[in-house]
Amino acid sequence: MDFFTQQKTQTVPIKFIAKGQVEEFVQSKPKGLSQKLINSSFKGFKKDVFLHYSNKGELQQVFLGLEDKLSLYQAAFLVERLKQELSSKYLNTCVFEVVGLRALHDIKAFYLGWAMACYSFSMKSIKPNPKIPKLFTPNEKALSYAQSLYTGIKACRDLINLPANKMGPHDLEQQIKDLSKSLKPKISVIRDQDLLKEKFYMIYAVGKASPDRPRLLTLEWGKKSDPEIALVGKGVTFDTGGLNIKPGQWMALMKKDMGGAAHAFGLALAIMKAKLPVHLKLYVPIVENAIAGNAFRPSDVLDSRKGLTVEIIDTDAEGRLIVADALTYASEQNPELIIDFTTLTGAARVATGYDLAPFFSNNEKVELDMRHISQMAEDDIWPLPLWEPYLKELDSEIADIKNLGTGRAGAIHAALFLQEFLVNKDIDWVHFDIYAWSQNGRPGHPKGGTDQSLRAVYHYLEKRFSK
Ligand code: BES
Ligand code: ZN
Ligand code: ZN
Repeated sequence: MDFFTQQKTQTVPIKFIAKGQVEEFVQSKPKGLSQKLINSSFKGFKKDVFLHYSNKGELQQVFLGLEDKLSLYQAAFLVERLKQELSSKYLNTCVFEVVGLRALHDIKAFYLGWAMACYSFSMKSIKPNPKIPKLFTPNEKALSYAQSLYTGIKACRDLINLPANKMGPHDLEQQIKDLSKSLKPKISVIRDQDLLKEKFYMIYAVGKASPDRPRLLTLEWGKKSDPEIALVGKGVTFDTGGLNIKPGQWMALMKKDMGGAAHAFGLALAIMKAKLPVHLKLYVPIVENAIAGNAFRPSDVLDSRKGLTVEIIDTDAEGRLIVADALTYASEQNPELIIDFTTLTGAARVATGYDLAPFFSNNEKVELDMRHISQMAEDDIWPLPLWEPYLKELDSEIADIKNLGTGRAGAIHAALFLQEFLVNKDIDWVHFDIYAWSQNGRPGHPKGGTDQSLRAVYHYLEKRFSK
């Protein structure tokens, strides 16, 4: 993490002036600085940034506004501003230091926001000169927090951003193994025909048309005596739609259809790095939804690990099939909590747009706490209902259930479909239907693959399972 340094050199201080206290502050300062501050539009609001240069044009200090609580996005916003305003040559020689923050949660937020804004992804053979503002990070607790979470966030974003020719099923398995190696989890993989032996009929059916074979990866970490939590991620490395092929404009972004897997794994990395006291199990069904003579078809009836028969109405509603088999498996182990991450439906985007992730839970308290903690973590998520009456819209004439609902509530249908595959409906379960992509780019979330809900869930787990 080349944007953090622990070497104390000459630093440019970053200071805070609270809203409503600008005048008071100005009175106590030398004329030159106070005049400049007065002339600027700086009012102490959280979006206010003021860079103070000496008469020789050297950057001397940075001022940020402060409302009731520091926002992680203030650090991100500042990094964007520094990248715009300062040359990469200058940024290479200069180290920033945040001063005057007392509360540990503020320092943690500042460090993490800084890191998130420094993320970039490029496959250019000649890398553009990166602009990486450096932050002095003497607070060890905050540093280790930011490093744990950023490690997960970076892995999540990188995996999404890599195109499908570099991130097929084989590659995704390998990346998960490589990136987690130093943390020594137990990893096992069931591949290809073995999926049928183990009754993962739907994972096999969706992935069978690709030469890069379907698989189910399981990662286990932590003490068996700690509470077991299961993470599940949709790992469709490319979604052509299958025989119900997507039009080009809808297919264009479908390298990100393993975004759920990237989230579940990124979160697992953060949990392992931070050593949260949980017995972690990660399940990643990995397939490419490809087109070939042996592809599954609309009207096929699939068996499932749960034993339910599933009529295929649309081969493009493939994510729920592979995640359903994985959810059955995860719930057979009877964990305390199951959380799945999926880029499951276009309908979820219609409901909450690109930047707000909808989620579902069968436990009201979990839902309420998740939502509450997501606000504290500045990673907003929004509940949608598992509305039972729509379940009948998934009724099939010839099988137990069909993979596409007849009404319009696409995101709810998909969630209700998944719920049917838990072996025990009393297990606490949370389902995310995320976009996993920053459409226009915003501070802390550069354009491209991005994390949504990962930090929210991390903080939920940290709070619920801390000893
Ligand atoms: N991966 C897509 C969902 C998706 C599309 C997520 C665009 C994010 C952006 C999923 O597999 C899919 O194709 N869903 C279809 C289902 C439909 C055919 C029933 C959808 O939501 O359009
Ligand atoms: Zn699809
Ligand atoms: Zn998909």
